[in-house]
Amino acid sequence: MHSKAQRFEHVELKVKDLSKALHFYKDALGLVEIGKEDGVTYLGCGYDKNYDLAVKEGGTGISHFAVRVDDEEELEYFYRKITNLGVKVTRHNGTEPGQVRAIRFPLPSGIMMEFVLVADNDYANPARPAYPRNIAAAPLNIDHINLVTKDVKKETDFFSEILNFKVSDVVDPEMNGNYMMSFMRFRGYHHDVASTITKNQDGTLHHLAWTMSNFEHIKVACDVITQFGVDVEFGPGRHPIGPNLYAYYMEPGGNRFEFVAEQVYLDPSSPTKKWRSMQDTLESWSRLRKPPGSFIQST
Ligand SMILES: [Fe+2]
Ligand SMILES: [Fe+2]
Repeated sequence: MHSKAQRFEHVELKVKDLSKALHFYKDALGLVEIGKEDGVTYLGCGYDKNYDLAVKEGGTGISHFAVRVDDEEELEYFYRKITNLGVKVTRHNGTEPGQVRAIRFPLPSGIMMEFVLVADNDYANPARPAYPRNIAAAPLNIDHINLVTKDVKKETDFFSEILNFKVSDVVDPEMNGNYMMSFMRFRGYHHDVASTITKNQDGTLHHLAWTMSNFEHIKVACDVITQFGVDVEFGPGRHPIGPNLYAYYMEPGGNRFEFVAEQVYLDPSSPTKKWRSMQDTLESWSRLRKPPGSFIQST
């Protein structure tokens, strides 16, 4: 089957304080407001007409997240496959800005996932944005999402067996399938979705990542968010998995974000890499470098 380079598309997050969060998203990150409906504000990086982040006040964590599919045929293929498991799948036709058609269903973790067809599937030109952009940290696009769950193996198996994702990397300390983390790709991009172990019963999100041009762009963005009173929690550095450049921070809405650059594309047949310890996966430049204790918290 010929398939396009579809990847992570958008996320709807809950935030603690909407006005604080929107101030940061618009003035620090430079996201553009695309629309507002039923208390949900839709924001985009501005390069295309699709929204990247939707936010609603009340708590923290994920309301739903979406991966783009090729066409109606692929959407129906997943509708049948997931429905056949006895999982309730709902249809959404144009209920969000830029959405043509979508299906929504719960993952084994309970987190709501969506496959979506979008109206604007053009490629973007930074000098010809769909909307005028603020000059700020200005991420290029939404990049990937890192979910939390009590059973990473179960979540990973669902992604690989039912949703046809490939597993790029797993952290499997005993090499017995008791995963602590997994990194999964829908097409070639190293990870669109990752899953991380948690003890937080109510947690859904470890972090949401934004694509940046390069290390210099991450540096400028770290300077910008710091001017807005937001500390960089961990990084910048380079992860051994990905092996992307990273910098993490807790944003004023109460969720963890990451700036990412240089994440690789993999061959469809690239084998799954297995890692024995979380510590081995954190930092390429120093095996001793550890994140702060706060880094294990999810929202
Ligand atoms: Fe959606
Ligand atoms: Fe990440």
